[in-house]
Amino acid sequence: MKPLIVANWKMNPVTIKEAEELFNSVKQGVKDVENAETVICPPFIYLPLLKGLTLGAQDSYWEEKGAYTGEVSIAMLKEIGCKYVIIGHSERRKYFNETDEIVNRKVKTTLKAGLIPIVCIGETEEEREMDKTEGVLEEEIKQGLDKVDVSKIVVAYEPIWAIGTGNPCDVEEALRMKEIIQKMLSKDIRILYGGSAKANNAEGYLKQAGFNGLLVGGASLDPKEFIKIVNIS
Ligand code: PGA
Repeated sequence: MKPLIVANWKMNPVTIKEAEELFNSVKQGVKDVENAETVICPPFIYLPLLKGLTLGAQDSYWEEKGAYTGEVSIAMLKEIGCKYVIIGHSERRKYFNETDEIVNRKVKTTLKAGLIPIVCIGETEEEREMDKTEGVLEEEIKQGLDKVDVSKIVVAYEPIWAIGTGNPCDVEEALRMKEIIQKMLSKDIRILYGGSAKANNAEGYLKQAGFNGLLVGGASLDPKEFIKIVNIS
């Protein structure tokens, strides 16, 4: 399967014009790339405006429909053409109190609708220092992916201390975590790396550590940088 290079725009950019410009630059820059699948995950409101690259959502609600003010359903995302949904990003866990149980419900709803969840797992700096990484990953997998057909999902290993810090995880350490995750799930599962991924370190994760792609935050807002990353795969 082709590596997935996923742009997580988070709550950016501020205007429709900027979103369209960023999207169009990326689209133009990756049009000849055949070795990778480029996925753009913009804020919800930009989804219907962006056409010509694979789209993903940054979140989705677990109930299929009903009175849930402020939420966006998986059917809406499907209708708009999303193929992927990021679930359980560490920012959702931290700022919106998403638990593994919530992650589990969202993953199941996403799969039921035929979309592909990109499930984020990873340890905090404190957990890493206390040598708890493996236990944290195990717990997130056990609960977050309880009764889930893991052959249908993508997992993103995102050490929280590496996200948005400019302090990416060493390739050797990332590889070790990838192997641990594979052992807990299955050898064939697609695993992405995320956390300060940039053009100058992408090759290490993709070629040396053998990740099946990258989840890119900050660097995905700079079209030149992001296009370079896609071209490396
Ligand atoms: P970053 O974000 O690339 O800015 O570290 C990655 C992510 O949050 O998915």
